[in-house]
Amino acid sequence: MKKLCLALSTVLIAACSAMDSERFAMEVDEPSLQSKGRLSAPLAEKEFLPPTHPLTAGAHACSFDYPPQERAAGCNRALARTINFGDMLDTPTEGLGPVLSDEFITLAKGAGFTAIRLTIRWDARADFKPPYTIDPDFFDRVDGAVKLASAQGLAVVIDMHHYAAMNTAPKSEQQRFLALWNQIAQHYRNAPATVMFELLNEPNLYLGRDMWQRVMSAALREIRASNPDRTLIVGGAPWNTLAALEQLHLPFDDRNLIVTFHYYDPIEVTHQGAEWVDGSDEWMGTAWRGSAAERQALKADFADVAQWAKVERRPIFLGEFGVYSEADDATRLAWTKAVREQAEANGFSWAYWELASKFGVLDPWTLDWREPLLQTLLPQSPVLGANARLYGRYDDR
Ligand code: GLC
Repeated sequence: MKKLCLALSTVLIAACSAMDSERFAMEVDEPSLQSKGRLSAPLAEKEFLPPTHPLTAGAHACSFDYPPQERAAGCNRALARTINFGDMLDTPTEGLGPVLSDEFITLAKGAGFTAIRLTIRWDARADFKPPYTIDPDFFDRVDGAVKLASAQGLAVVIDMHHYAAMNTAPKSEQQRFLALWNQIAQHYRNAPATVMFELLNEPNLYLGRDMWQRVMSAALREIRASNPDRTLIVGGAPWNTLAALEQLHLPFDDRNLIVTFHYYDPIEVTHQGAEWVDGSDEWMGTAWRGSAAERQALKADFADVAQWAKVERRPIFLGEFGVYSEADDATRLAWTKAVREQAEANGFSWAYWELASKFGVLDPWTLDWREPLLQTLLPQSPVLGANARLYGRYDDR
């Protein structure tokens, strides 16, 4: 998969007010991104998933009270139905995509997602000279989201996203990458077990298989120094594809890892008309209706991942999948439903790409769900059915 530049949404929403500069604190008053992003109760105490749901059964083990392997499996159940908060904190500055707000988090919770993946461009918020200090105001901003989501009972993935220099110049950038993880890990070391770190989104280009293997091992050591018990998420190079798993060698003794892969196949379907992919205009009109052959290809791909997971004994998180909004609605709905179902059939947790930008399941202006799409992800969502809006709203976007 070849991606040439960032997806920049045209959506511009009012910027959020500045946060105060306190460090991650566990017990404070009203949670709100706009105010201080604080908590009313100890995070780990909160009931955060319907324990009876088959997809989330076992999520209670996402707790420091459980041994590492069980914790990783439990935390992967906490990620059962995740929504990516894409194009929000992973743009060079905020406001180039949808601006993260309290509502996004409460709406995600209300719809029935169990977790949010915060895709964050940390490198754009840190000094270029040692010690590569991360902007404290930005930490506050992320804290607000982490605390509000946690207070609502959502698990959180803190992901290092769009770190372009790591792909173009991994050797010279590595020191800074590790210094960023050092700070992030220290900062969130007291966060509940339901807050997980994802080492790096889609390593690619010069950060190939071998180089990523070395960098990943160094990053794991760096993070483990302050977070020996936190569940961490890693994927393979290049691009977190399923094929990259074959070359991913994880430290055998660290059983507290979740393995991620991204699925956008066929790329001509999912990325038709995507401005950041060369030649994607020519793919416009590529349909996917779930023919026997299409389903078989999907099934075979996921069976490969499941087989790898079985041998390696690692829980699997499908960290991104989705179809760009330039595709026709029937294609988007059929593909998304089929992929989500395959993930669940194989016991993978999943995260749809993404909430409110150009793959979005939520209209960032009206805050209405695009219900047919939401239905493919969360068929039993409480916001569907009686409250459902007309299909037309989805077509009109
Ligand atoms: C990657 C990119 C994101 C893009 C998505 C689909 O995660 O980071 O910007 O929209 O894949 O291509």
